[in-house]
Amino acid sequence: MVCAAKAAGLVRRATQRAAVKDALSGTWLGHALHPMLTDLPIGAWAMASALDLTAGHGGAKAARRLVGIGLVAVVPTAGAGLSDWSDSHGPPRRVGLVHGLGNVAGVALQAASWVARYRGHRGVGVALSGVGLGITAGAASLGGHLSLVRGIGVSHTAFREPVTDWTDVASTSDVTEDRPLRVTAGGVPVVLVRHNGALYALSATCTHAGGPLDEGKLVEDGCIQCPWHASVFRLADGEAVRGPASVGQPIWDVKIDNGRIHVRSATP
Ligand code: FES
Repeated sequence: MVCAAKAAGLVRRATQRAAVKDALSGTWLGHALHPMLTDLPIGAWAMASALDLTAGHGGAKAARRLVGIGLVAVVPTAGAGLSDWSDSHGPPRRVGLVHGLGNVAGVALQAASWVARYRGHRGVGVALSGVGLGITAGAASLGGHLSLVRGIGVSHTAFREPVTDWTDVASTSDVTEDRPLRVTAGGVPVVLVRHNGALYALSATCTHAGGPLDEGKLVEDGCIQCPWHASVFRLADGEAVRGPASVGQPIWDVKIDNGRIHVRSATP
């Protein structure tokens, strides 16, 4: 799938500015944006078809407006989806491509429906909207598959049990300034970072797609950047300050006892 890789590369370049990536990923919201936005066009088009089926000519104007509202709402929805897709790889990227192409077909039919309705061909518009909604529903089910089966957009630390006991993970001399160190506590990978003399511990598995934060680098003031898609997390509280991650990184309590570093999951 060379074209999928090329298209993903183009989208990545178009969305590489931090402000754009953050906006489209939902980093500012603390929640992935694309799944939320999909409710708007799908809801508008579903309501348009509901009016078509139940309100007759009396609902024609409102139905046309709803088709139009869906077409406007699809712009940010598609932007957020494209941004998410550009960070995917392998089979999820291929499924995402089919999901996107299905949505393009659905949008094209809704646009044609709006034009037909505007020109007074209501019957044609109703038929085009119905077919478009069916195709959009099929494409949406692929989006659900990507999240629920492939885990795209799901926090990769969501199912980790907290480690509540203090766990000895390293000697203080093992951790040098601004050089992330991977350790394990209760089977959970943790990254230790000493920065400006303070010691921080975060889960080492990036919430975005599971990248190894311990292979990342220290950036800005007191933040660590994931090596896979460049999300940036604050060391002090794990907050995602740059996307594509929209969920913060779990942090760990740290204590030093007799030259040994102990960690445990911080209480949320
Ligand atoms: S895995 Fe994507 S930013 Fe970390």
